[in-house]
Amino acid sequence: FPLKSYNTFGVEAFARFFVEIANEEELTQLFGHQRDTTLNPMLVLGGGSNILFTQDFDGLVIHMTSDNIRHEISGTTATVTAGAGVVWNELVWYCVNRGFGGIENLALIPGTVGAAPIQNIGAYGVELGDVFVSCRVFDTQRVEFLTFTKADCRFAYRDSIFKHEAKGRYIITDVTLNLSLTPALNTSYGAIESELSRRHISNPSIKDIADVVSAIRTDKLPDPATIGNSGSFFKNPIITVQQLDGMRTAWPGLDFVFYPVDTDRVKLAAGWLIEQCGWKGKRVGDAGTWKNQALVLVNHQNATGAEIYNLSEQIIHDVKERFGITLEREVNIL
Ligand code: EPU
Repeated sequence: FPLKSYNTFGVEAFARFFVEIANEEELTQLFGHQRDTTLNPMLVLGGGSNILFTQDFDGLVIHMTSDNIRHEISGTTATVTAGAGVVWNELVWYCVNRGFGGIENLALIPGTVGAAPIQNIGAYGVELGDVFVSCRVFDTQRVEFLTFTKADCRFAYRDSIFKHEAKGRYIITDVTLNLSLTPALNTSYGAIESELSRRHISNPSIKDIADVVSAIRTDKLPDPATIGNSGSFFKNPIITVQQLDGMRTAWPGLDFVFYPVDTDRVKLAAGWLIEQCGWKGKRVGDAGTWKNQALVLVNHQNATGAEIYNLSEQIIHDVKERFGITLEREVNIL
């Protein structure tokens, strides 16, 4: 089964088996006591926006398509539950249009709701974990549904339990968020502030923020519909303030770009490190880095997953050699 249109990198890869799952009954059926184990391994695919296929997948790909959204209001809180197959940006606009605040900074992040908790999606000063209540999951080993609370998910920067102990065992079927009818808008991110002031907006609405974030993203990031990519390919490395000071002493002429994490740690802008190594906008065949954001690897047309992976290896090597920092991939490699 061809996966080219099921991964935003748009690379060619084939799955041995492919099934679409629209609801909980279908999942229970699929994993019932007679499940054919020759279908292993299994891979759950949402929007395919955080995955790089470097080879064919010799197992079962499960594509979640449940796309219902519902909400309840209690006082000033809107509790919204969305199926795993809902396109993330559609959930954002469902909420923005109803005045539910909390995820407007996450507008236009590619992918689906079911994938959002796995890497705790985040942008412009907000993370999914900030508004997350729980998610319903299907335990493929015990063939039963469970609820994971926010604490159970162990969210961290681009990280959750679903990338570690829980990896491969649970299938997220829906996600519940608490949003606010009287939100405190987060405009702290420099790019948002400057775009708001450019638009002469001093008292932004939830929709203004979603519009501004969408404009910034459209300007800076390639649209996967036209140029294959999967957003940031690497994580921004977290280092200690001491390490940063050491680097600033070693390279007095360089203006390191970083964000504070806590009193002892900062997050370096990996895109900046990659640009310093001369990789911004470069191409190796059809694999490359984006001209406006070196952290984003792109498929200009016919790159294979292996070519994109090899490019990422070269970048990791060069950043390590230049700055002594080992970049970690954010994208899942298969
Ligand atoms: N920069 C450069 N050169 C580059 C890219 C960035 O110098 O080629 C510097 C610029 O100074 C820029 C700064 O780095 O101002 C930060 O860049 P940007 O605002 O694009 O943010 P980022 O740290 O590179 C992170 C997330 C993005 C998210 C933005 C905005 C990660 C791995 N990435 O990128 O998330 O949209 O912040 O909050 O944390 C994604 O995960 O797929 C993603 C796009």
